[in-house]
Amino acid sequence: MCGIVGYIGEKNAVDILIDGLTKLEYRGYDSAGVAVVVDNNIKTERSAGKLINLKNKLEQSPLISNIGIGHTRWATHGKPSDENAHPHCSDHIALVHNGIIENYLELRDELINKGYKFLSETDTEAIAHLLHSLWEDNLEKTVRKAVQRLKGAYALAIISSREEGKILLARKEAPLVIGVGKNENFAASDIPAILHHTREFIFLEDGDIAIMEKDRLEIYDLNFNKVSRSVKTINWNPVMAEKAGYKHFMQKEIYEQPRAITDTIRGKYSLEDGKIYLSELEEMKGDLLSIERIQIVACGTSWHAGLVGKFLIEKFAKIPVEVDIASEYRYREPIVDEKLLFIPISQSGETADTLAALKLAKSKGAKIISICNVIGSSITRESHGTIYTHAGPEIGVASTKAFTTQLATLYMLAIYLSQLKDRLTKEERIKYVKALIKVPEEISSVLDLDHDIEMLAKNFKNYKNFLYLGRNINYPVALEGALKLKEISYIHAEGYPAGEMKHGPIALIDKNMPVLFLAINSPIYEKTLSNIEEVKARDGVVIAVASKSNNGISKKADYTIFVNDTIEETSIFLTTVVTQFFAYHCATLLGLDVDQPRNLAKSVTVE
Ligand code: G6P
Repeated sequence: MCGIVGYIGEKNAVDILIDGLTKLEYRGYDSAGVAVVVDNNIKTERSAGKLINLKNKLEQSPLISNIGIGHTRWATHGKPSDENAHPHCSDHIALVHNGIIENYLELRDELINKGYKFLSETDTEAIAHLLHSLWEDNLEKTVRKAVQRLKGAYALAIISSREEGKILLARKEAPLVIGVGKNENFAASDIPAILHHTREFIFLEDGDIAIMEKDRLEIYDLNFNKVSRSVKTINWNPVMAEKAGYKHFMQKEIYEQPRAITDTIRGKYSLEDGKIYLSELEEMKGDLLSIERIQIVACGTSWHAGLVGKFLIEKFAKIPVEVDIASEYRYREPIVDEKLLFIPISQSGETADTLAALKLAKSKGAKIISICNVIGSSITRESHGTIYTHAGPEIGVASTKAFTTQLATLYMLAIYLSQLKDRLTKEERIKYVKALIKVPEEISSVLDLDHDIEMLAKNFKNYKNFLYLGRNINYPVALEGALKLKEISYIHAEGYPAGEMKHGPIALIDKNMPVLFLAINSPIYEKTLSNIEEVKARDGVVIAVASKSNNGISKKADYTIFVNDTIEETSIFLTTVVTQFFAYHCATLLGLDVDQPRNLAKSVTVE
């Protein structure tokens, strides 16, 4: 999705903007641009395609200024082109925008009638002309008037050559943070863009308008009352957001999983009594005791984590769980009451559909505990409680370490709820906690299979279709494995519960349809073996991801990747990493851009 960067201070803004936009590339974009004020004039440079095109233009005609705004655009209204790239201008005003203005056609007609000429197909240009048409003395008064006319979602950074010393920021349902510096201030849609310059952040709230000068910050709320927003210190190390010697962010993030899970579970368990301690939920304990049902709502990979969460919570805590896709949930009539615990799962904390679903459940009285990776993000601010995953910044569009840390968090939450409801014995809890704390080490053993999985990918990268099959807790992992392959290698892949194969997918089986089985040791392992026989009987090609103790499986499967024996509940961490590597290698062997796959965005902040 679109990225915003803004700078005001004493350095050259363009360098900081380009650096920040580069750090936001992972969000997905198809054009980019910057605007600065030079000698009382707005100057812009924009280009379709990757940032290198913009950089080349800026090398030809450099722009030097101490104030500027920059943008990477992910096309919604109008195709990717120089004209549609942000910033958009109206005479002395330039702005960048994330979000969608729903009433832009109405505004556009009104402004055309007033004589404004539109040079792009975007909704954003209407905001630029609207600001110009409403201009009144100064930028802040004008912005206040203009936002009252906007329907939809926006994060805006606005400059005017009439007021060279300030950037106006405004947000509604789209993320925007201020990075606080000394004699300089920064704005960005996402923390990694400016993490090199500051660790001090202010998270703007819905409806906020901020006046950002190099040595002054003023924030006004929805009702134009001056407010103070707390400054939060972010402890992410900027190196964590860089490749650190790996070829791709995705590769680095796969390798970071033992560390990420260790950080996520650190200090939250006791082996002596098998208890999980979630101090962040302490104040909600009373509410949690009375909950009778759970709804988990999320999108994409986070939704797959939710499906695993259902299995774990129902097994450990014996509380009924429904799992929903956020974009579906928000438009139906979900049954919600105060006995419902609603769990949104989101890496970014900014996914528009998940946020809207959360607001709906909250308005109907549900208790909200989010699982999120980004401190201070919109979803966490709307929640009654948040359990943070400690994955660190995830840059690769295809989610890896965020997913496995979500799984670890759900695993802990399931045991925690079982404690409250007294549903597991101490011995059972100790068994599950022991298995959890072994996960980082078990994942490290799968990292050793990197080369073997690369060899496997060499044999399969040219297939056009794939089936991923799993049962029980490994069924959502099959969905996630298939999604990874689709997202980055563009090979069509479907995930299915293995037992469902006979109800449709079996019709597709022939020598051109490889089937990847997550055939982990479990009480129903034999049933998965029968599914493998069914595929082999139809000339299908079988890859099995299996437990070492079941070595006989290699006689049935064409290729087998063995992982350590674990309990079924933690096998998901190992099977997941195998499928991550498989997708990663298929894509890199095909020469594809794994960190920024086509058409995808890291953080989907619009509907
Ligand atoms: C996008 C990303 C996925 C992610 C999904 C949900 O589609 O490309 O990797 O799983 O959004 O994002 P969230 O930040 O809410 O987990």
